[in-house]
Amino acid sequence: MNAISTLSTADLKAQFPGLAGGWHYLDTAATAQKPRAVIDATVRAMGADYATVHRGVYARSADMTLAFEAAREKVAALIGAPAPELVFTRGATEAINLVAYTFPNKGRVLLSLLEHHSNIVPWQLAGWQVDVCPLTADGRIDLDAAEAMLTPEHTMVAFAHVSNVLGSVLDAPRAAQLAHRVGAKLLLDGCQAVPRLEVDVAKLGCDFYAFSSHKLYGPTGIGALWGRGDLLDAMPPWQGGGAMIDRASFAGTTYAPPPQRFEAGTPAIVEAIGFGAAADFVRAIGLPAIHAHEAALVRELRAALRARNDVTLFGPEESAGIVSFALDGVHPHDLGTILDEEGVAIRAGHHCAQPLMEHLGVPATARASFGLYSDQGDIAALLRGIERTRRIFG
Ligand SMILES: Cc1ncc(COP(=O)(O)O)c(C=O)c1O
Repeated sequence: MNAISTLSTADLKAQFPGLAGGWHYLDTAATAQKPRAVIDATVRAMGADYATVHRGVYARSADMTLAFEAAREKVAALIGAPAPELVFTRGATEAINLVAYTFPNKGRVLLSLLEHHSNIVPWQLAGWQVDVCPLTADGRIDLDAAEAMLTPEHTMVAFAHVSNVLGSVLDAPRAAQLAHRVGAKLLLDGCQAVPRLEVDVAKLGCDFYAFSSHKLYGPTGIGALWGRGDLLDAMPPWQGGGAMIDRASFAGTTYAPPPQRFEAGTPAIVEAIGFGAAADFVRAIGLPAIHAHEAALVRELRAALRARNDVTLFGPEESAGIVSFALDGVHPHDLGTILDEEGVAIRAGHHCAQPLMEHLGVPATARASFGLYSDQGDIAALLRGIERTRRIFG
């Protein structure tokens, strides 16, 4: 019996066809494997139940519309948000772009050194003045520094709720307080938080929350932006097309209210239904249990790596589901390749966080990231693979 596990991972693993054959998948932060419940929901939606939404006058389309909007409700409920404030996007990347381009009061944005490129480049492209908050020595966003940096010129603060490289968890209520004190809004990049923490946007105090379905055990190609109702109302459309208008005419087009205003074109119907099924799946297991399970695995892996004396560990001790490290004298890509031969999948690279790599003084790190199906057997396989790599490289 797994001494540290709060989840029955053998039962859980069996629900994930992608994990068959004893594969040790430690790249869930890149994208999570899909449970049968999500696969089945998408197959039904693409097969027997398939029809368009919002337009059809026939019963199948009306049913599909209900299922699509029910998916919105499930995804919104997962983060404690009202469904009308949840916009379906292509992913977290598009959600952040949407705010960067349409937020009416573009000024200075405060980002942090640990952001994913998705929470850096959109602000640059959309013409914001970007300031960068430093990190604490253990790799958390330094909110004391943020407090000192923020000025009334800042209209936005955009931070990762959980770092995709270091696993560090932001003190979001304090970040919200600091942003609001100078009149700025807080956008949280929740890509890595939603799959592993209980998220309630009201308790966090943020104004926008962006995340992706595929990291939450759901399909690719869909994600969500939650925005406070009054803020979404004040944002103009971004992309034009069908489904986002109130009335279109050559004399002047008027627009639908949010969320439809930001969902031009036929939506990702099948993916939305899969996203809803994924939200159901994690809620049934319980985010507190998932978090406790992953946190225990993180502690165990960090302790084992520290005991080796040839590993540099990045990030804080208390991190959510993600461990970045370097094996002395071995490039992370070489480590990743040897681990692959051992049936262990980790991520090796810059993790779309090049400014953070520069700060850490490394071109890349090795990253093991856990999901609700990860267990001590995965850690043991990783440690065996590291030992073999050591023997090969001396
Ligand atoms: C913290 C973080 N933000 C944003 C993204 C981008 O997500 P997506 O590519 O699904 O839009 C990722 C994906 O790796 C991430 O980990």
